[in-house]
Amino acid sequence: KYSIIASVLDKPKIGELTEVKGWVKSLRIQKEFIFADVNDGSCAQKLQIIIPKNLDIDDTLTYGSSVHITGKLSKSPRGQLELLAENVTVLGKCVVLDGYPFNPRTIHPPEYIRQYLHLRSRTNYMAAVLRVRHAVTKHIHDYFSKNNFLNIHTPILTSNDCEGAGEVFKVQPENEETMKAMMQEGRNRDSVYFGAKTFLTVSGQLHLEAICRGMGDVYTLGPTFRAENSRSRLHLSEFYMLEAEIAFCDSIEKLQSFIEHFLKYLFVVTRNTNDADLYLIDKNNKAPSWLNKQFLTLTYDEARNILAAKGLDVSDEGINKEQELTLVDYCQAPVFIVQWPKNLKSFYMKESPLDSTKVDALDLLAPLTGEIVGGSLREDDYTKLEKKLPSDALKWYLELRKFGNIPTGGFGLGLERILQVLCNVPNIKDTLPFPRWPHNCDM
Ligand code: 4AD
Ligand code: MG
Repeated sequence: KYSIIASVLDKPKIGELTEVKGWVKSLRIQKEFIFADVNDGSCAQKLQIIIPKNLDIDDTLTYGSSVHITGKLSKSPRGQLELLAENVTVLGKCVVLDGYPFNPRTIHPPEYIRQYLHLRSRTNYMAAVLRVRHAVTKHIHDYFSKNNFLNIHTPILTSNDCEGAGEVFKVQPENEETMKAMMQEGRNRDSVYFGAKTFLTVSGQLHLEAICRGMGDVYTLGPTFRAENSRSRLHLSEFYMLEAEIAFCDSIEKLQSFIEHFLKYLFVVTRNTNDADLYLIDKNNKAPSWLNKQFLTLTYDEARNILAAKGLDVSDEGINKEQELTLVDYCQAPVFIVQWPKNLKSFYMKESPLDSTKVDALDLLAPLTGEIVGGSLREDDYTKLEKKLPSDALKWYLELRKFGNIPTGGFGLGLERILQVLCNVPNIKDTLPFPRWPHNCDM
């Protein structure tokens, strides 16, 4: 049985016969030996293979080819671990001149690599990002599990547009026969299959709230979809969102301190478990100074006053991306914006007890991306919620407030945005294997 390179490097068995399989990342041919760096995806490091030239070697051993190597592990005089090959088999050749887009001597920019999504995992950059993504996912599950949150699989098909922004993808059967047969039953075209307009979910929050009001703390980490007409470096049509709903949460400060503690944990553990990957992605990626500081908090009005004082145009309501980044720069740390005008936020947010024109909502702004988290206390007053309910189809949501209601608060964090900040990746499309954005869903 062959070994993965991560474990060969982790617990080297010097002098023992070792078998590895992977891809050649670079090749140097010298007088008596060929030096090959092989990586198998299991870690950031490569294993140096020393191949005596008198071995019977296939001439298809090139950069990019896949190989099976057997040999003895040894340490070079400089202390570097190397595998002295006794047998080298090329499993899959890689004819670079036949259109292989990558070259070992070139550092390809992410925009170039992105043109080859199907081959992107061959690059050190993307492989490192995907390992960090895996680790972050694991740390999220660990954290919530340790804190007794129940992992809930919220549905992807739903009839609610939780955020009410109309940025939904509508789902319909493709099959015309099915459509016709169902329309003959008197169904209209929009609701032919499920009986109500059906969408790909924009958020699992309302479903989480239903379970939270019966079982306490819950979370979900899954795909969400937004039909935004945005090709920006911060938006995807399909992204993963971590959403948590905290039972008996009755103040926005408690919600803020939960988010802050969780985020700091996530950064510290991932910087620990994946330091070599983070270095591969960006050599200059240092632990952010804010890890040891308390996040700041500004009310929406305070934030707008700061922006106005800095000469920015605040004639439009809300805080746009440029303004978000200005605020983060001003604070030199992540900053919570709280006390948002009711008309700017979704129907489910709790009216502020301090000011009935405001809601107890928060956005957390971070360097590089601006908003990374959106959250709020949820309106738990039946009558107030009933007045704001956007549609009769959400009667079930209102009814949650009727039977054994409790105060709750929660938030949603974009997995890809947090990866951008953690890895220092400017474009969100480089934080996941197969990004989807307008006009880009070809594979
Ligand atoms: O602020 P949003 O829209 O909040 C919600 O959906 C709430 N229902 C969450 C909750 O309280 N359970 O989205 C939450 C986060 C944003 O802060 C951002 O990080 C990310 O999701 N996000 C996107 N990430 C990538 N591409 C997009 N198009 C995104 N839209 C939102
Ligand atoms: Mg938001």
